Amino acid sequence: MTLSMPHGGKLVNRINLNYPITEITSEIEIDAMALSDLELMANGAYSPLVGFLGKDEYNSVIENTRLTNGTIWSIPITLPIHEGAAEKLKIGELVKLKHKNDYYGVIKLQEIYSSDKIKEASKVFQTTDPNHPGVMKLLNRPNIYIAGPITLTKLPPKDTAFTQYYKSPLETRKKFKEYGWNTVVGFQTRNPVHRAHEYIQKTALEVVDGLFLQPLVGETKCDDIPADIRMKSYEALLKNYYPANKVFLAVFPAAMRYAGPKEAIFHAIVRKNYGCTHFIVGRDHAGVGNYYGTYDAQKVFTQFSLEEIGIHILPFEHCFYCTKCESMSSSKTCPHPKEDHLHLSGTNVREMLRKGIAPPPQFSRPEVIEVLMNGLRKS
Ligand code: ADX
Repeated sequence: MTLSMPHGGKLVNRINLNYPITEITSEIEIDAMALSDLELMANGAYSPLVGFLGKDEYNSVIENTRLTNGTIWSIPITLPIHEGAAEKLKIGELVKLKHKNDYYGVIKLQEIYSSDKIKEASKVFQTTDPNHPGVMKLLNRPNIYIAGPITLTKLPPKDTAFTQYYKSPLETRKKFKEYGWNTVVGFQTRNPVHRAHEYIQKTALEVVDGLFLQPLVGETKCDDIPADIRMKSYEALLKNYYPANKVFLAVFPAAMRYAGPKEAIFHAIVRKNYGCTHFIVGRDHAGVGNYYGTYDAQKVFTQFSLEEIGIHILPFEHCFYCTKCESMSSSKTCPHPKEDHLHLSGTNVREMLRKGIAPPPQFSRPEVIEVLMNGLRKS
């Protein structure tokens, strides 16, 4: 086996830091989510996308989970702007993309169209409930979408707490080759690392050459643990419990959508672009509240052949610590009843940490707990 081919066959590169952007007069303001999408399209993480989706592609993605040419794509990457801003634009012109007083890119404007938020929400999130954080975000963004190929002209600012962990797909692919890995399993996470994560990562690592840990550090909902604290907890874990030559840690600067199954497909395809051959999908991947079934994000992959998705999905049962087995287990490996299992939800843990109560070592490594408690005390 060799590293995965990029999705669609070719790694996109639309970065030009010498672009003569000052010659362009037209401009629009973009939000943080669009800025992260701009960067990830430009560096190839979202290959084969080369720009924000036009109306046909948008409809095709939300209705068929595919681009119009049949390539699998599950999350519409769109550029919403306000009606007033849209009225000033002309189809065919180049438009500068501005975020908080800085220009980061250019779009060649091909289309201006109205979004269909209700359809988009029900297809992508499987709910139109405005309390769903992904739906809420969607509804709060402007209603007009603009489309066209993009160029990134300036790299977005990196979080100074973990600057060294920003790696493009070209860089991760190079790194995997240096390590001599032919098979690499990718791991997506938005939460502080706990023993169940460690268990599924290491179980996967038993059958591949390397583990690519890529915590998501873009926009998350406000009660998720801040990215800098999560990254420190990963450093503590790796230092004490992982072989250095088998694991590579980098960040995924995308925004979290909380779209469950549809986002699991997106997460897998993007990790394929970073070079992964395998991808972990555990319990309620990218889920929130009770919107998705525990294994919906695994079942969704059965509609695709391995050839067309191009990455092996490693599904994991819900894992927990069993006091009788004295180890991490799942219903596949443990015969004991629920009463013997340690169950703590993310919400339980966040509450414990915020109150200064340490979750037990069977739930999370003490080194990780220390980082989390220190971090949350300061934040
Ligand atoms: S996610 O939104 O990024 O999916 P999280 O960081 O909690 O959230 O999960 C990261 C990955 O670990 C996902 O694939 C998820 O399904 C898996 N996972 C988390 N907790 C467990 C668990 N207890 N058992 C099995 N898989 C889990």
